[in-house]
Amino acid sequence: MTHAPARAAPPCVFVLFGANGDLTQRLVFPALYNLAAQGLLPDAFAVVAVTRVEFGEQAMRDHLRDSLGKYCMEKCDLAVVEDLVSRVTTAVADASNPNSFETLRKHVDDVDVRRGAQGNRIFYLAVPPTGFAPTVRALGAAGLARQKDGAFVRVIVEKPFGADLASAMKLNAELREVLDEDQIFRIDHYLGKETVQNILMLRFANGLFEPIWKREHIDHVQITVAETVTIGRRGAFYDATGALRDMVPNHLFQLLSLVAMEPPARLDAHSVRSEKARALDAIRIVTPQEALRDSVRAQYVAGRIGDEVVDDYRQEKDVAANSTTETFAALKLSIDNWRWAGVPFYLRTGKALARRYTEVAIKFREAPISMFRGIDLDGLRSNYLVLQIAPEEGITLQFNAKTPGPNLQIARVAMNFRYSDFFDKQPATGYETLLYDCMTGDGLLYQRADGVEAGWRAVEPFLEAWRAAGDQGLGLYRAGSTGPSEADALLARDGRRWRPTS
Ligand code: BG6
Repeated sequence: MTHAPARAAPPCVFVLFGANGDLTQRLVFPALYNLAAQGLLPDAFAVVAVTRVEFGEQAMRDHLRDSLGKYCMEKCDLAVVEDLVSRVTTAVADASNPNSFETLRKHVDDVDVRRGAQGNRIFYLAVPPTGFAPTVRALGAAGLARQKDGAFVRVIVEKPFGADLASAMKLNAELREVLDEDQIFRIDHYLGKETVQNILMLRFANGLFEPIWKREHIDHVQITVAETVTIGRRGAFYDATGALRDMVPNHLFQLLSLVAMEPPARLDAHSVRSEKARALDAIRIVTPQEALRDSVRAQYVAGRIGDEVVDDYRQEKDVAANSTTETFAALKLSIDNWRWAGVPFYLRTGKALARRYTEVAIKFREAPISMFRGIDLDGLRSNYLVLQIAPEEGITLQFNAKTPGPNLQIARVAMNFRYSDFFDKQPATGYETLLYDCMTGDGLLYQRADGVEAGWRAVEPFLEAWRAAGDQGLGLYRAGSTGPSEADALLARDGRRWRPTS
């Protein structure tokens, strides 16, 4: 997030590991194109596309050009495409072969001299998680991680960052054997979403909300990330991961921490990330019994999403026939600090649901209704402030109003702000701001080690309790439904309801 009008990032060589992979094709290269089209890439910029086996320079350029064709179709500016593609060279490197990293260093140095990149490097690890530590170690051994003569070396690490607290801590330690914390840029693509970044602005650039943003006025918070997609071709990854690991300690906790954090002293990476980590750190660590009581996990069974017929999760490709992996998870969390004591945060996320739908809903306490005593108040509802992340992008405030006419009747109405009514939509994959920020050295929208670890620490009791319970307590829900009934019961027990997802 730049404070000044954005201008071209400083010179650098962008070394892209996993250049032939899906992520590069769908998100990273199109994001580089969008930055180039907006004039935000420097003149002294080059891409070194790294693969583990020979791909060939021409073939790589064609492959990347093709990915842009798929992404922006005929709308791409061909001159920008050709300029970007001409900056791509290829290299072969495999972390198990130190010589290949020596060759890579020479290649990167050579490109640097030709382009005038002044020694600045970004290494983007678009590789499977097992490759993170070995690649960084190999970079270190080849002298590629050292920052010298005022130049920067930064490493972007994709998700998943660990599979539990122990593995995340191990990975953090392994990266820090080679890199300083401020060289490590851990991506969570939710922080690339404008609407997610806007939570900071909504809370801290307005005087209106902060005074009521606390337990005295807020009844509870609901965070929903509902997806219609199934597991598709990701069976092997997903079955070993599950909905909780895949979504909660990262994406949902980004939303939670932005909503729950204290105001930072400054809008800079250090202050914001410290407050976010403190909020996560205040999530109550529950006992195994509490974990089972305050959570729901479920798997989808055959159903229909729109026109698509969906099989049981257990019949998906690369999923174990007796899998107990959850495709839906709901949690009730407590944040033990002065602002949030007694205000539950309910989180839910799932695949194969009726509708794609991401939102944070803040429910305010009921009004003291004594003045309406004796009047039919069926219509009287609590106020909700809803931050809509997808597919709508906007903010809605729901409140009660008098229905016109001589009878005193109350109806629920809403004030709606839609991004599209006020702002032109820039073509974006959601990675542009993140990449630009890395190039300019701003880590605010990246995860810091303490935040990642606090997130895993909070979900660990749930993972552990579910693992121990096996298929006991694993619910089922029909693909194309709004999720398992157990999730409704989780709130009903507290006299509350989820906001409808369809
Ligand atoms: C990814 C998860 O990190 O986020 C996917 O691995 C999930 O399972 C995706 O579908 C959701 O992202 P978005 O931006 O579509 O909400």
